[in-house]
Amino acid sequence: MPSVTEIRSKAGSEPVTMLTAYDAPTARLVEEAGMDIILVGDSMGNAALGYESTLPVTVDEVASHTGAVARAAEEALVVADMPFLSFGVETAESVHNCGRMLKEAGADAVKLESGPHTVDLTERLVQLGIPVMAHLGLTPQRVNELGGYTRQGTTEEDAAEILDLARAHEDAGAFSLVLEHVPANLAAHITDELDIPTIGIGAGPDCDGQVLVFHDAVGLSENPPPFATAFGNAREELQHALDGYVGAVESGTFPAEEHSHVEEDLDELY
Ligand code: KIV
Ligand code: NA
Repeated sequence: MPSVTEIRSKAGSEPVTMLTAYDAPTARLVEEAGMDIILVGDSMGNAALGYESTLPVTVDEVASHTGAVARAAEEALVVADMPFLSFGVETAESVHNCGRMLKEAGADAVKLESGPHTVDLTERLVQLGIPVMAHLGLTPQRVNELGGYTRQGTTEEDAAEILDLARAHEDAGAFSLVLEHVPANLAAHITDELDIPTIGIGAGPDCDGQVLVFHDAVGLSENPPPFATAFGNAREELQHALDGYVGAVESGTFPAEEHSHVEEDLDELY
């Protein structure tokens, strides 16, 4: 299993591969593909739980899904994504919630949507033995404050602030940094400046690694973000299977003889 130390040492050398998963069979598939990191993202809110955003996702939901993923994953590093307001309010509560992901759910690390309010918290968590993945640029938990899922770091001032926060989180002990929906040249510059690996999503080709949401990557999402690419058409495959099932039941071709068992002894009775 790649440890956070091994992930950290990949900066500037081998690309880091990361994808989300929210359940055991998906985690097994993702792992079979050789993924370094499985993120149990709070994107489960949209992708799996039917919410309109990630905001309603609870600590219990992330812990439950992280448990499913961690029980299935043998090789990949499992990172639990801390949901909206579960961290950064009170330190004791933040430590308790993050600690649950390791103690109870079996995660190897947590990810925090980062900002000025997570620098000290990151240091505290790392001191306590809870590895932290930082996340800057577009932080979807702030959608109401940002006014949409818009590209971040587009002005000189905003770009400088993201770079400063990236350095601060590296200094605080984060083992890696997700950069979401920022200009490719800013992501490349931050990647150059940091010793820890950057993992991009909508952040261009020059990060140390890439992350996508499972449903976007396999072609299951109805509304993938503009920066995602589907590497397959799982939606069509599944639809084909489901149409086949409904059609077979309706036409009476399933179950066939080979799917049925006749008990000879009952033949006289019925
Ligand atoms: O929740 C999530 O899936 C994420 C990734 C897109 C980085 O935060
Ligand atoms: Na997330």
